[in-house]
Amino acid sequence: MKQAEEPPRESSGWTIQDSAELYGLANWGGGYFGVSDEGTVEVYPDGNLSRKIDLLEVVEGLEARDLYPPVMIRFSGILAHRMAQLRRAFDEAIAEGGYAGKYTCVYPIKVNQQRYICEEIRDLGRTLGFGLEAGSKPELLAGLALTEGLSEMPFICNGFKDAEFIETAILAAKMGRNIIPVVEQTQELGLLIRSARNHNVTPRFGIRAKLASGGIGRWADSVGFRGKFGLSVSQILSSVDWLRDEGLLDGLRLLHCHIGSQIFDIRTFKYAVSELAHIYVELVKLGAPLGMLDLGGGLGVDYDGSGSATQSSMNYTLEQYATDVVYRVKSICDDAGVPHPDLITESGRALVAHSGVLVFQVLGSRVFPETPDGDLVSRALAEVPEDEVPQPLLDMVDAYQRLEGGDPIETYHDAEHALNEAMSLFNLGYMSITARAAIEELYWAIGNRVARDHREELPEELYDLPDRLGDIYFSNFSLFQSLIDAWGIDQVFPIIPIHRLDERPTRRAILADVTCDSDGRVDRFPGNGEPQNTLALHALRNGGGNGGPAGEHEPYYLAVFLTGAYQETLGDLHNLFGDTHAVHVVMTEDGDWHLDEVVEGDTVREVLQFVQFDPDAMRRSLRREIEAALAAKSLTLQEAVSMRRFLDQGIDGYTYLE
Ligand SMILES: Cc1ncc(COP(=O)(O)O)c(C=O)c1O
Repeated sequence: MKQAEEPPRESSGWTIQDSAELYGLANWGGGYFGVSDEGTVEVYPDGNLSRKIDLLEVVEGLEARDLYPPVMIRFSGILAHRMAQLRRAFDEAIAEGGYAGKYTCVYPIKVNQQRYICEEIRDLGRTLGFGLEAGSKPELLAGLALTEGLSEMPFICNGFKDAEFIETAILAAKMGRNIIPVVEQTQELGLLIRSARNHNVTPRFGIRAKLASGGIGRWADSVGFRGKFGLSVSQILSSVDWLRDEGLLDGLRLLHCHIGSQIFDIRTFKYAVSELAHIYVELVKLGAPLGMLDLGGGLGVDYDGSGSATQSSMNYTLEQYATDVVYRVKSICDDAGVPHPDLITESGRALVAHSGVLVFQVLGSRVFPETPDGDLVSRALAEVPEDEVPQPLLDMVDAYQRLEGGDPIETYHDAEHALNEAMSLFNLGYMSITARAAIEELYWAIGNRVARDHREELPEELYDLPDRLGDIYFSNFSLFQSLIDAWGIDQVFPIIPIHRLDERPTRRAILADVTCDSDGRVDRFPGNGEPQNTLALHALRNGGGNGGPAGEHEPYYLAVFLTGAYQETLGDLHNLFGDTHAVHVVMTEDGDWHLDEVVEGDTVREVLQFVQFDPDAMRRSLRREIEAALAAKSLTLQEAVSMRRFLDQGIDGYTYLE
């Protein structure tokens, strides 16, 4: 087990560079995030350090417009820059490798379906030669609407398809659209052949191959003989015969695979691309015209910045990916004497993850004390005659006194033992609640002091002691709505304060969200290759301890970075916390910023209606109850009015704490 990195305790001599290093901005930020001289996070949307937006200024600007965190801030410039980087990486690899085919990326709508993002990608994609990808009927319709008037734009349709799906794609192609349905199962091929006959066309379509090369990580099952998607090699062969018999082989233009998302080890790509390219050349030799090789998605994002072959990271760069793909396809085609196909990738995560930043406020904190409450301990000792004081309390007091001068590890073990004994006695009814409270206070104080003053001496089984005694920072967001992969697949996201970065962070904490679910917490943060269980944070200023509401302390804002891919629509309505506000921030030519689009988060009314409640009927019946309480004099007129106002404002207010 790895020990958490210690945030230094004194606040002097701390610089913004120390914060940048501690939080690893340069490792995971992709060059888009840094720290200003004022200790705030600054954003470089086009990767140019001289053109920046201050994130705290944006948050304060939103608050001035009555838009309070949690808020998802999307930076259009970052999205544009990522797209251009992908284009450049493949263009350079193609030029350097002497590759004869072209490259295009089709954006998989499922990665983030928000209309505004899709439109931005579509508009930028027009100049970059990119297209779109859909995997369901709603996404098919969204894609058709998005590409209206852009008949050249490639639009690839994956996913399971029924007759209606295939019919729509074939008719859209007849209308002149550059749409390519990809066959995932043999019965889809039957539907496609029938539809082609009905409409008397030879549609252009693709086939997805079920590769034998293993995938990796969470989506390893996307491939392999028992994989859910695609046709096995024998099914592909019989499909080619079938198509030839039907006179439709000329329509087979694309060979596709997708080996899973967030491929963190480049070797996985190498094997898969080789296998797919070999299938490609064999099919061409059998007479399939093909011409396009679609490698699917999978291009990773280095969430923890470690550059390693681990789930939340990746051991390769965008440029290495492009070079590898181009090199492998070229050499296999050259060996077989087959012309180089045009290359397609369906990179989603790698395009949009960096552009989304979720900002929320810390509401309060639970801090485990470093010094025990002396009055409480005295009360516990005095509440019974001296010879009846519970032994664990005496042992704990003794251990606390031995902190000075004694063996700290032995002292801690004694304290832990006393705590366990105390719990047994309490649960059997042999100890008062005051004694138990005093024992807990003493235990936390001992643990904190040992973790703080004897960190270097901790044996391995106590490495996590600082984490076990870390603070809990209560935060105004829902993990299930905004960071679902942190819950569902243990994804690590970089999280840092967006201000006070010129101050030394002196606390270590986990984050607890506002849902009533003990799973609604973040306790894995980027470390050097291995996630850390607590995050270095600043102490809340002016109170704010022990769960006090926001407002009792100075605002303390945290941001989760790299949240642009998958989180927003995968997120759910757990506890009826709905969508957060989302804003699109654009940088102007003169270096200023403005809001291009504001999408307000869900109101209480909207989430209630989503689960079939009628908010107006609810309000009417609650009003009747308030009137009855007024008549019965259990509420004063003023109280009744307050209650009515609360109802009215609450129903149309934000679902998060305001
Ligand atoms: C068929 C297909 N293409 C592309 C993608 C996007 O993958 P990524 O976001 O890893 O680039 C997915 C996502 O799993 C997919 O299923």
